[in-house]
Amino acid sequence: MTPLDLAPEEFRRLAHQVIDVATEFLQTLDSRPTFPSTSGTTAEKIFDGPLPEQGIGPAVFSSLGDVLNHSRPPSPRFFGYVLGSGEPVAAIADLLTSVLNQNVTAWRSSPAAVTIEHTVVGWLAEAIGCKGFSGSLTGGGSPANLMGLAMAREKIAPANERGAQGGVVYASEEVHMSIGKSVALLGIGRENLRLIPVDDAFRMRTKELEAAIQSDVQTGKTPIAVVASAGTVNTGAIDPLRELADIAHRHGAWLHVDGAYGALAAIAAPEKFAALNLADSLSLDPHKWLYQPLDCGCLLFRDPEAARRAFSHAGDYAKALSQDPIEGFAFFDESIELSRRFRALKLWLSLRYHGLNAFRDAVRRDLAHAQQLATRIQQHSDLELLAPVELSAVCFRHVPRASAAQDELNRHNAAILQRVVQRGRVYLSNASIRGKFAVRACFVNHRTTDADVDGVVDEVIAAAK
Ligand SMILES: Cc1ncc(COP(=O)(O)O)c(C=O)c1O
Repeated sequence: MTPLDLAPEEFRRLAHQVIDVATEFLQTLDSRPTFPSTSGTTAEKIFDGPLPEQGIGPAVFSSLGDVLNHSRPPSPRFFGYVLGSGEPVAAIADLLTSVLNQNVTAWRSSPAAVTIEHTVVGWLAEAIGCKGFSGSLTGGGSPANLMGLAMAREKIAPANERGAQGGVVYASEEVHMSIGKSVALLGIGRENLRLIPVDDAFRMRTKELEAAIQSDVQTGKTPIAVVASAGTVNTGAIDPLRELADIAHRHGAWLHVDGAYGALAAIAAPEKFAALNLADSLSLDPHKWLYQPLDCGCLLFRDPEAARRAFSHAGDYAKALSQDPIEGFAFFDESIELSRRFRALKLWLSLRYHGLNAFRDAVRRDLAHAQQLATRIQQHSDLELLAPVELSAVCFRHVPRASAAQDELNRHNAAILQRVVQRGRVYLSNASIRGKFAVRACFVNHRTTDADVDGVVDEVIAAAK
């Protein structure tokens, strides 16, 4: 045995120790504050230290208590951002993923992992009504959006050989920041990202999209892609997918759907997502609304050839040695990544352990929890709902009786949010809704109960006092 290896008995003993820590953590989740009692300097004092030239052995595991106590736990009352709650079967799978240490580059490197990834990607596509799409798992929605737009650019305005040739991307003004980042990284340039106004329900206005495309075409510009949001990050609005597909395709542009937040809700409310399958590419995030531990995003696409056109560029050392269509397959021909983690194992175990129906029920509960909170807000005379609740994001603010100017209300609600987080009973985040500071709760949490949801209004009112 070499010095960096562990004897089997030692591995078992340490792994059990960690499993005990994890089990105790899960058992105490409900009683833990939703944000730890910590500060920047406290955390640095505990976790910073000299580079350890000599190891101290198993004693390192005694520091795990500190890590847990200074982490924001996946509490039943965590409603911040858009972040799934970490399903435990998938968490167990992640340990084995690291032990197996498969590099999911190509079948020749990791036969089971590649095959399982194909299987789960097919399941995800089928579950949201896009049967027949293929794709790959990613680190999240941001890389999936970047890859979708890279495919669009290479199809409509090829740039891989000669560099970016111009072109325009269209999205609503509510689009996620990852789209602005993607057009910058792809050399399209953020000045060529047209942010189209939204209607009262925060959905892209189709007439304005049509007008923007026509105006660009008249001045000789090439429409590369329309990005439709299937669940905007602020309010969960779903753009009119069918109309956007029609407009994009009529102008020879690609339709990319950013479904990182919302698309997986199609397993529970398919009627909201009709026409999702008209997308050319589509991002979705199992680490959001399928409760998988980070990281687990996904890009689906209709035409694998378009993915290969954008991404295939292999060095000789990595090229497939087999002509067999299964054994010659390489994810790096259809993805930005070369070395890739075995993300599919957790999904494969988690989906087979619980069955899709259990996830469908959990998403339904999240949707119902958002409606429950919206109703309580509307019933409260000091609270104002700031956007329709289409999915599971609820944006609202406290409006004291003596009504104040907008700036003052914004400061008042920012202060409320800080106090709510400090109190540690629920965790909320924020959004900007037409210039108004909104306190925002987003339900993508399989642990949340109806009583937990009621706690949101109680906490905001208590913090306002
Ligand atoms: C609509 C939308 N798109 C993209 C993303 C980015 O996803 P990720 O954080 O997995 O990169 C998010 C994240 O919240 C999102 O809500």
